[in-house]
Amino acid sequence: MVDYEKFKELIFKKTGLNLSCYKERQMKRRIDSLIKRNKFNGYEDYFHAIEKDKKLFNEFINYLTINVSEFYRNYSQWEILKNNILPDLIKSSNKLKIWSAACSTGEEPYTLVMVLSDLMPLNEIKIIATDIDKEAINKAKLGLYSKKSVENIPQKHLSKYFTTVGDSYKISDEIKQCVEFSTNNLLEDRYPDKCDLIVCRNVMIYFTEESKELMYNKFREALKNHGVLFVGSTEQIILPNRFKLSSLKTFFYRRS
Ligand SMILES: C[S@@+](CC[C@H](N)C(=O)[O-])C[C@H]1O[C@@H](n2cnc3c(N)ncnc32)[C@H](O)[C@@H]1O
Repeated sequence: MVDYEKFKELIFKKTGLNLSCYKERQMKRRIDSLIKRNKFNGYEDYFHAIEKDKKLFNEFINYLTINVSEFYRNYSQWEILKNNILPDLIKSSNKLKIWSAACSTGEEPYTLVMVLSDLMPLNEIKIIATDIDKEAINKAKLGLYSKKSVENIPQKHLSKYFTTVGDSYKISDEIKQCVEFSTNNLLEDRYPDKCDLIVCRNVMIYFTEESKELMYNKFREALKNHGVLFVGSTEQIILPNRFKLSSLKTFFYRRS
């Protein structure tokens, strides 16, 4: 019989996604409700189905990974990034290496490009953007967004970098060209190195303490000396010194 422990093992073997690294109660609740919604008879039945049916499998990954995102999420933090963090980084490096980790459907890396565009020409901007979810990455590359997700974009950027397509907003190719998207599993895969800035927001909340510690260490390693890690608004790092990071501003940490 396949219980939840066995199901996690099977999923890990099939996908490399280690469900044990995510907070158990929340994850199990989501999986149970997905199984119920799709009217399967428990974990075994469901696992066989997602093994055979690619669409069902993609739905599983997509549902688990929670892709909610928006442009300029927590606006004031992007202001701090622009006014207090980026000017020093720009001064200290002639070509910034920036990574948007767990970028979901692209709102975050595209926000980064718009923020940077106030400080430097677009042709000097290159962002690496990754997520575990291939479907999210495909949507990011498409660059088509709802009215709700563009609500916080400053009007000057909205009118300059977007065109409307029916009820949606399409991001311009000149912004898209600044971002290189690919899939990456933060738990298993190699991280880029020598980054000046890593933006990883609203994803650590899903992980166990142990996995978070592992990832904070990997983020520190991925940063250049004095490089900066920008985290989500509920993700302040307690005792950042443990990871050889020091607090610069709330939600911003520097490799020390
Ligand atoms: C709530 S979204 C956050 C999106 C964006 N960073 C933001 O703050 O708006 C969480 C993202 O984390 C991604 N994710 C979950 N587990 C991951 C993993 N192990 N490796 C990489 N990305 C992961 C999900 O696919 C999802 O797109």
